[in-house]
This record gives sequence, structure tokens and C-alpha cells, in this order.
Amino acid sequence: MRTVVVNGVEHWLGHVKDFTKHSALVDFLPKDNRISMAWVRLEAGEQLDEHTHPVDSMILLCEGSAETIGDVKSSMNAGDILVVPPGRDHGFIGGQPNGFWGLSLQFDSRGLYEEITDPWASFEKREADAMALRDDPKEILFQRNEYYMERFDKHRLFALINKGLLDKPANKARFLDCFQVWSNYFQKMVFARVLCTREGAHEDLAWDHLIEELGHNRDLSEARTKKTPVFDPILESSAAWFQNIIQTLSDIEKVVLVHLVVECSATFFYKHVKPAMQTESTNKHFDEHSMHDHEHVKMGYDFIREYPVGDLAPLLEIQEKGWSMLGVVMARIADLVVHFAAAEVEEPVAQQAEEPEKMELVGA
Ligand SMILES: [Fe+2]
Ligand SMILES: [Fe+2]
Repeated sequence: MRTVVVNGVEHWLGHVKDFTKHSALVDFLPKDNRISMAWVRLEAGEQLDEHTHPVDSMILLCEGSAETIGDVKSSMNAGDILVVPPGRDHGFIGGQPNGFWGLSLQFDSRGLYEEITDPWASFEKREADAMALRDDPKEILFQRNEYYMERFDKHRLFALINKGLLDKPANKARFLDCFQVWSNYFQKMVFARVLCTREGAHEDLAWDHLIEELGHNRDLSEARTKKTPVFDPILESSAAWFQNIIQTLSDIEKVVLVHLVVECSATFFYKHVKPAMQTESTNKHFDEHSMHDHEHVKMGYDFIREYPVGDLAPLLEIQEKGWSMLGVVMARIADLVVHFAAAEVEEPVAQQAEEPEKMELVGA
């Protein structure tokens, strides 16, 4: 791969060789999406423009040299590593006389250019908070939500589902067993919010939301026949956090957590999960949510737009915490399904006499 098209504009990448495009490597590498690798090369003087990724990434320079551009301006030689957190500007120029070969590594969900129609790179500069601040402080909250949503959209759970994690009925059942835990705590959060909301307009919003959501967890459960209850301490405690924390928040913080964080996340959740649930008895749940959750997001945005927000800091804080905790809930669901799927595959193999695996030489 030499170039990538982002928002209709073609960008020069140099030379990218994604390991997932090589059948021997695909067979060999673990299937749990914990690692993605690609060879990257720039000739001397060739430039990969400044850009950002929505996930953690690192470049290990293997041979030759490079100049880095963007947030870190430095020289790199063989053995040097540039670690790139999400959203940080970076780019490279191939050093003299031979440019460089490097390894691009991600440890989260999938390779940056693994899906050529959906490259995980942005070449546009993000508007700084300060720009938004001049117009309306609430815009900072909304703008940050866009950032959190973009990251959540790239969550490992969804990357795995898009790669077929739920194709097997047993994995799908396991996923729904885990999801049921979250769905139950979601209901409790919505209830708890009504119980401890203090002010009139907030109470109306909380009730409206409760009435629309009421009992969806039970519908989901009743739509399924083969169920195995899941108790996992990490899933349990991260999902329960929402029910517990909501009781300590101010009314406006509750709006941020419920609508800007949880309901927003649900729109991405259903976007990725619904296609994998076709022909399931749980279709009704997934169909209804993919429609209603957009409305539940809008309820919160409309409310905050009308509401006089004094101190933004506590809202930004609960926004950040909420998105992080959701990331943990979804990551735990991903782990629980992946571990289950791996155990399912391993059992029958263990009974057979094992044939030694083929050894293979894979050229760069
Ligand atoms: Fe990059
Ligand atoms: Fe909803």
C-alpha cells in the first residue's frame, strides 16, 4: 500500500505492508486483536505528512534513519521507538541516504490501514478547545464528546465483532450473556437517577428517559432461550459504577453521564453489534435501540443547550470518567467472549495427536 484516501484526499504513506495481508502471518498471529503490525518504509526525502490516529500506536525504526515532524521533532535511528498516543500529531521524513524501514505496531484492536476503506488516520488539525471557548463554553463539552465518540467507535470489541467474533452461535450467546450484565446495570442507573434527581426540569427529563427505557433488559433476557448467567468481578464492578456514581452527581452532571456518554455510546454499540445479530430472536431489542438511542442523545444535548452551565470542570470530569468506564465495560465483554471462544476451539484439538506446525520463511 502506497497511499491512503481520507475524506476524499489522497495522502502519501511511503510503503506500508500490513501483516494481516499475508496468509502465513494471519494464521500464525493471535486472533484476539491484541497486536497489529505493518512494515513501513520511506525513501530518503520522502515525507509522510503530519497526522493523528484514534488509538495508541508506535513506530520502531529497524534500519536507516528518519526525521520526525509534528508534536515531537527529532531524529530517529535504528532501534529508536516513537510512541504515539491517540490524537497526537506525528509524521516522518526518510533520512539520507537510504530512508528507513520500520515496524508500525498497535496493541489495541486493529491495524491503522488494515481496512483500506476505513483508515484510522486523520490528516486534519483538530480545533483547539480555546477556539470553541470564545463562542460558547458548552461547545468544549460537545467537541470533546465528538473526540470520545470517535475513539469509542474504534473500540476493540467492535473491531473484533466486525471481523466475525460473533459469527459462531456459541460466541453470540456468550456475548449476550455478558451484555445482559451491562443492560441490567443500565436500567438500575436510569432508576437511580430518577430517585435522586432534585430539580423540576431535570426530573421531567429523568422520568421521560426512564419511561422509554423501562424493562428493556428483561425483554432482552426473555427473548433468549439458552442463557448462562455471567459473574465476572471486573464486568460487574465497572457496570455497577454507573448505578453508584449517578447517586453522587449533581443533576446536570447526571445529564452528561446518561445522555452525552452512555446514550451516545449506545448509538455506536448498536451500529456495530446490530449487523451481527441479524436473524436472532433478540432482533427486536437491537432494532429498537438503534432507533431510540439517537433520540435519547438529542434529549441531553437539547437540555444542556438550554441550561445555564456555570462551572464546566465537573461536567468535563464526569464526561471523561464515564467514557473511560464504558471503555472498560466493553473491553471486559470483549475479553470474556474471546477467552470463551478460544477455550471452545482448543478442547477438540487437545484430544487429537498434535501434528507439528509447518515452519515458514516470510520475506519482508
Ligand atoms: Fe501514523
Ligand atoms: Fe436509550
